[in-house]
Amino acid sequence: PRSVGRVPERRVPEPPLWEQLAAQSAAMPQGERLQKVLAVRGWGSRRVCEDMISEGRVTVNGDVAVLGRRVDADHDVVEVDGVPIGVRPGLVYYLLNKPEGVVTTAHDPQGRPTVVQLVPDDPRVYPVGRLDQGTEGLLLLTNDGDLAHRLAHPSHGVDKEYLAEVEGHPGGGAVRRLRDGVELEDGMTAPAKVSQPSPGVLRITIHEGRNRQVRRMCEAVGHPVTRLIRVRIGPLRDATLAPGEWRELTLAEVRSLVEAASGSTRPVR
Ligand code: URA
Repeated sequence: PRSVGRVPERRVPEPPLWEQLAAQSAAMPQGERLQKVLAVRGWGSRRVCEDMISEGRVTVNGDVAVLGRRVDADHDVVEVDGVPIGVRPGLVYYLLNKPEGVVTTAHDPQGRPTVVQLVPDDPRVYPVGRLDQGTEGLLLLTNDGDLAHRLAHPSHGVDKEYLAEVEGHPGGGAVRRLRDGVELEDGMTAPAKVSQPSPGVLRITIHEGRNRQVRRMCEAVGHPVTRLIRVRIGPLRDATLAPGEWRELTLAEVRSLVEAASGSTRPVR
């Protein structure tokens, strides 16, 4: 945990601690445990975060929190030593609009342009998941290993939405097959959300992240992809980034991503 100048006024909880605890829990029976919220934001293990709470260093909406307190991380103002918890110092999160032809890797032995060359090189960041060389669109890069790991795990991963230009005009049968699941060489795909906003363009939302999945799905129903763009990663969208442009995530976006990545798998339709 960082040390900072301003230390909040310590208000000793009064009277008995358990009464406070009961009142706080009754007021917020459904929030997340404070130590978990702190741990998820990178303030240390749950044990370390419990100690910070016990030491009176953590406030919720200005009041010193007691252990067992639950919070609504979106609305409550949580501070450690008087500073909003935000995200751990030193972590960066970039949203890149990957252009076609750039490879999703930290280093390419063949010397092709890579996504990490498109964002600042210090601190070093890594792509979360991958887009094929020919695919365009949103890609997240970060040095937050915990979040990257969770997002990469299929059971915690988030939905991804693609626009696919395909050969021909898929009929109702092909769209239904894509929705219900198609047989690929590595097994059946999970149900997907699929619509056709204009003839020959499919909007496909999937939760799995198998290799070249969207291309293989479309090919399997007889409509090979001619152009593929990822337009959403979980809660993240941005239609204003030009190809090759990147921006940092806002704090609200980091929070919603952390939240999305800590949920369990939900079907996408
Ligand atoms: N599905 C694909 O086929 N390619 C990608 O790059 C991403 C998803």
